[in-house]
Amino acid sequence: MDVRTVETQPIPGQKPGTSGLRKKVTVFQAPNYVENFVQSIFDALENLAGQTLVVGGDGRYFNREAIGTILRMAAANGVGRVLVGQGGLLSTPAASNVIRVRRAFGGLILSASHNPGGPHGDFGIKYNVANGGPAPEAITEAVHARTLAITRYRILDEPAPDIDRIGEARLGAMIVEVIDPVADYHALMRKLFDFDLIRQAIAGGLTLRFDAMHAVTGPYARVILVDDLGVSEGSVVNAVPSPDFGGGHPDPNLVHSRELYELMMGEDAPDLGAASDGDGDRNLIIGRGQFVTPSDSLAILAANSHLAPGYRQGIAGIARSMPTSAAADRVAEKLGVGAYETPTGWKFFGTLLDAGLATLCGEESAGTGSNHVREKDGLWAVLLWLNIVAARGEPVREIVAAHWREYGRNYYTRHDYEEVESSAAEGLMAALRASLHSLPGLTFAGSMVEKADDFAYTDPVDSSATARQGIRVLFADGSRIVYRLSGTGTAGATLRVYIERYEPDPAKQGGDTQQVLASLIAAADEIAGIGARTGRERPDVVT
Ligand code: G1P
Ligand code: ZN
Repeated sequence: MDVRTVETQPIPGQKPGTSGLRKKVTVFQAPNYVENFVQSIFDALENLAGQTLVVGGDGRYFNREAIGTILRMAAANGVGRVLVGQGGLLSTPAASNVIRVRRAFGGLILSASHNPGGPHGDFGIKYNVANGGPAPEAITEAVHARTLAITRYRILDEPAPDIDRIGEARLGAMIVEVIDPVADYHALMRKLFDFDLIRQAIAGGLTLRFDAMHAVTGPYARVILVDDLGVSEGSVVNAVPSPDFGGGHPDPNLVHSRELYELMMGEDAPDLGAASDGDGDRNLIIGRGQFVTPSDSLAILAANSHLAPGYRQGIAGIARSMPTSAAADRVAEKLGVGAYETPTGWKFFGTLLDAGLATLCGEESAGTGSNHVREKDGLWAVLLWLNIVAARGEPVREIVAAHWREYGRNYYTRHDYEEVESSAAEGLMAALRASLHSLPGLTFAGSMVEKADDFAYTDPVDSSATARQGIRVLFADGSRIVYRLSGTGTAGATLRVYIERYEPDPAKQGGDTQQVLASLIAAADEIAGIGARTGRERPDVVT
């Protein structure tokens, strides 16, 4: 076995963010870039020798090259077995599931999620631990520390085996097992949802449009939605993964999924419209004539989850990221279960799910999931919606309206200012932090500020503490403005502003979100000086 030890030097900037290390493809292509980071992961893990790892990605440009390098390095570092999705593909939730069902030590997921792909797009590497979830901060910090001290990496001088053929091959002393990326995930979905009921509803005329955005969910949607549930072939669109996502931007929001939105608002809309992102963990849900905000989706799924077999016994609690609207909290209260508010990023849900404190989790950024894996899960959300629509026999629009009547409506929007100059964005946040103490008692948009803070979180399970997670301006009437900087961007800084107002009165729940929130949106600018500091008159993306 030809293990080569290669001398190297630390490369600055290899710090995992909200969701692993994400950079431009060109950055990953630099000499030793992948090698340094992967070796740092291996070095940070104790007892890796002889273990099983899972490796797969969303099929974006550089996926195969990175997998080849990872396999050769894993073999050189004494890993016992690597399970690879055929063709290098594994959606992020499917990878999480494989790690769990195959009792792997962990896994490397290659993706930059919803960011564009191709030679000039983004790439990413994320390490997940044995519970199937993203590595906790203790590990990502150890990896980062290692990247700053690395002096050598180990790699096998032998080409990696063919990853397109299912089966086992040897690479040095390590076994490379190429697996069907869909099979285990499909089996899990069949356990959670009432496939017979959904199949009957589809046979009876329930219609769907699912947009895989040329990304990883295509093969999953084909097998599960078309072959198993009987959705017509043409209802699953853009189902062949491509390295540059067909030249598109695989982010299922109202900007990049405009076509789906227009379809769903039109005369010929199917009953349910849905999309998932590059790596299959996000979801977009639009009923005929009704966009469902991710925050509302979490609340509605939680309130109706008992209609799906996997959750018939009830749920233990609901967790949401801090910027996600409080709609889910009201459902938790009514169900008499725990409500948890965590920092942004799926990694903070892991301990709550493992400890059985929460069953459903969600983020306003189109992420919803449950304790079935340790990642958010786009197709899971689509299937749960299908299960609920089939069980209730009502249109999405009516399900949403009934929810608001019962729980009240949280008008909610997020405004993103992208590629803002880093110093301007950091200056804005610093000034906000400095003004926190002076905000309470002031009135903006007819609402009085009750409290203003920089969100800090102490994990109720392992007591780990995380500070500076976003500025919250909380108003006495339940309205809220949150400011934070993105941890996933790859150019400049992205400022995210989250704006929310609660309306309990069903007679007043009909308004347009941007109009209802207009005065709070103006207040958000007034409080932070967004226009003045960034030079931007309006956000780049409104969701
Ligand atoms: C964004 C989302 C966050 C999500 C993350 C990974 O992170 O806001 O909810 O967990 O992507 O998909 P951000 O760029 O805001 O740090
Ligand atoms: Zn994603």
